[in-house]
Amino acid sequence: MITVHTVHHLRLAVAQARRAGQRIGFVPTMGNLHAGHVALVDTARIHSDFVVASIFVNPLQFGPSEDLDKYPRTLAADQEKLDAAGCALLFAPTVEEMYPEGMANQTRVSVPGVSEGLCGASRPGHFEGVATVVNKLFNMVQPDVAVFGQKDYQQLAVIRKMVGDLNLPIEIIGQPTVRATDGLALSSRNGYLNTEQRASAPCLYSLLKRLAETIQQGRRDYPVLLEKAKHQLEADGLQVDYLEIRQQDTLLPATEKDRKLVLLLAVFMGTTRLIDNLSFESET
Ligand code: PAF
Repeated sequence: MITVHTVHHLRLAVAQARRAGQRIGFVPTMGNLHAGHVALVDTARIHSDFVVASIFVNPLQFGPSEDLDKYPRTLAADQEKLDAAGCALLFAPTVEEMYPEGMANQTRVSVPGVSEGLCGASRPGHFEGVATVVNKLFNMVQPDVAVFGQKDYQQLAVIRKMVGDLNLPIEIIGQPTVRATDGLALSSRNGYLNTEQRASAPCLYSLLKRLAETIQQGRRDYPVLLEKAKHQLEADGLQVDYLEIRQQDTLLPATEKDRKLVLLLAVFMGTTRLIDNLSFESET
């Protein structure tokens, strides 16, 4: 695997692959890679011939009180994992390379509708930062296909809408969430949890599964169900940011008639913010 740090060198390497007739796959990341990221690369390899990954901790998508400074930067270990996974090219730019005019002067991409509510409500500007950097990365790499994790369900919806609205000729693939054996969704932020918190964190996915089962059995009193589940999480010492049930495709609030549903959850475990979600269909 080759690592490049500038847009110039990235473009040269991608152009060479294209001249050789290769289909370009892309996996954007913020580094500190785990098995979930490796699964993204595996999927990209199935759908392309030449996989490009990026590692960039994007300051534009972090709020002023968020974890930008302490976000783990583990380039050497990440390079090894990407290489072993069969990634051909890593783009690891500096902030100056990505935002040469400074962030305040950066043209922004704002995606209406799906960016609002959920994480968009508690992290103002977050999805604008994500859409802007992903759009820039797409223009730099010009991939045929890009793979994103379904763990960031709202982010995936934002990117799909941006790609549609801006007519970007890129196929977007959603990769199912990779979980630890105890059910916890893999995330770089799990590394912030202490032993006790890590031991209790699988309760999030268990709760989502129980809720989904209850709804599949025919319960439709969503406000009552969600309120009860939130109390349970709070009783377990968690601070609930949101727990909601939405329509899978639009992310609009689910009505009793909707059958393609997604439960979305964000909590604080101490100072660590964890998200998870569960999509399911309800026949009854
Ligand atoms: O999901 C992430 O890691 C980031 O939000 C992304 C898509 C790489 C943009 O910075």
